[in-house]
Amino acid sequence: MTRFLKIFSAVLLAGVVALSCSKDSSSTGDDDHGIDYGSITDIQYSQHVQPLLNDDCVSCHGPNRADAGLRLDSWDELIKGSQFGEAVIPFDADHSVMIEMLTKLAGAVHPADQGESALDSAEIAFLARWIDEGAQNDADEIPYANSTGKVYVCSQDGAIVNIIDVDAKVVIRNVDMQDFGFAPDSKPHHVAAAPDGRNWFVTMISAGTIAKFNANNELVATDTTEVPALLAIHPTENVLYVSRFVSVVTTSLYVLDTQSFTPITSGGATDGRIEMPRPVPHGLTIDHNGDYIYTASLSDNELMVVSNASKDFETGIPVGNNSNPLQMTISPDNSTLYLSASGKEQMLIVDISDPTAPVLIDSVQVGVNPWHTMITPDGAYVYVANLGSNTVSVINTATKDVQTIGAGDGSDGLSQPHGLVVSPDGRYVFVSCRNTTGDYHPRYDFGDNALAGAVVVINTATNQIEKVLEIEEFGSGMTIWSN
Ligand code: HEC
Repeated sequence: MTRFLKIFSAVLLAGVVALSCSKDSSSTGDDDHGIDYGSITDIQYSQHVQPLLNDDCVSCHGPNRADAGLRLDSWDELIKGSQFGEAVIPFDADHSVMIEMLTKLAGAVHPADQGESALDSAEIAFLARWIDEGAQNDADEIPYANSTGKVYVCSQDGAIVNIIDVDAKVVIRNVDMQDFGFAPDSKPHHVAAAPDGRNWFVTMISAGTIAKFNANNELVATDTTEVPALLAIHPTENVLYVSRFVSVVTTSLYVLDTQSFTPITSGGATDGRIEMPRPVPHGLTIDHNGDYIYTASLSDNELMVVSNASKDFETGIPVGNNSNPLQMTISPDNSTLYLSASGKEQMLIVDISDPTAPVLIDSVQVGVNPWHTMITPDGAYVYVANLGSNTVSVINTATKDVQTIGAGDGSDGLSQPHGLVVSPDGRYVFVSCRNTTGDYHPRYDFGDNALAGAVVVINTATNQIEKVLEIEEFGSGMTIWSN
């Protein structure tokens, strides 16, 4: 609406109110609030935002009736989101469901789709501005600013790193690589968070870049190297290991100092490069003491061990033709390594009680293309995402029994599961899903989200899917941080 029309209609409305003297603003849902939203310089939640929601939304999203489990009668309720996920992502109105519902919902925008009048464009623009300025309350608090547990997940084709609050299980931030000058196809692939929570790191495969962000999600440094893929951060030293993607044949691991953010030259590492006997070291993990780094040649089927002290290749063992080892996880006591053999529908079990002489001792049948994997903190179960069969396998490490989670057709959210992390308390597993097939249908049609990726939240007490959080395209590498 133009400013003139806006003023004109406000005058008209005032006239109608004066004439009838009985207009009940809460029942019409489309009154003007007598506010020129464009002129508000300092948005106050209770003065400017809540009245809008009270008039137009709370009848269905309030204490008496909360459609989709979403209450909009206070800031505290609003930021909890619905039973499905967040309503707003601070600083990112474009990807906030609340704004997408009001502007892009196919058929009729919300709440017109529910038979109520829609907000006018000035009101929607104002709500979007409030979100883009951080969705703050009256005390200028930004939602989840003090989150104590975060999942970082890459939306690889959306060039976004999504951050999820572990307790609330909603997306709390989107960090768009394009805001920092990276290309739309930079492909953020994997993330790692420093143990102290002050920094997090992301690889971008196409950009050939490893980027360092601070806790406020500001870019603080970058380094470049060819096809960086997975990350493993040292538990106590300022050291970050980086593996390689398959598109360029490389035979080195890469290692850098997380403080100076420059490649390390010491022991076997020269300009950050640690040469391996086999190409494409892709899978990557570090033991819980930080003594040994494990990687595996995706193309040449060898598990390779690197010493953190010498920054040099230590030993390697073959893990079977066509096993295409993808990713691994280590038991809490550093005695056993579980390796997903993406070519064989198997998890390989390796005794690493002597890291200089690993022994392949067993294998367990799982789903198709087992991908990322993580063991529970008590060492009792190994979870693995089966990219090719749209399921998650749960291996009982004592009995080797395997339980399968998921319908298998992707409709439940587990559509091409890729990344996987277990919460530090062992109660939840978060699984990122690519969904490039579109087998998972997002719950609303916004015209541009048919291939939205997802993060599926599994409750480990029941091994049931508890929630499906929709993210951007191609959910991939993840990490979990808590303090
Ligand atoms: C007449 C009742 C009604 C009104 C008024 C209404 N909503 Fe809704 N809202 C619903 C229903 C029902 C759903 C679930 C829709 C569905 O399942 O298709 C919903 C869903 C939503 C969702 C998605 C929740 C999720 O995570 O799935 C958001 C966000 C939302 N509404 C925001 C609003 C806002 C903002 C307003 C006010 C501008 C509003 N609604 C007004 C009935 C209403």
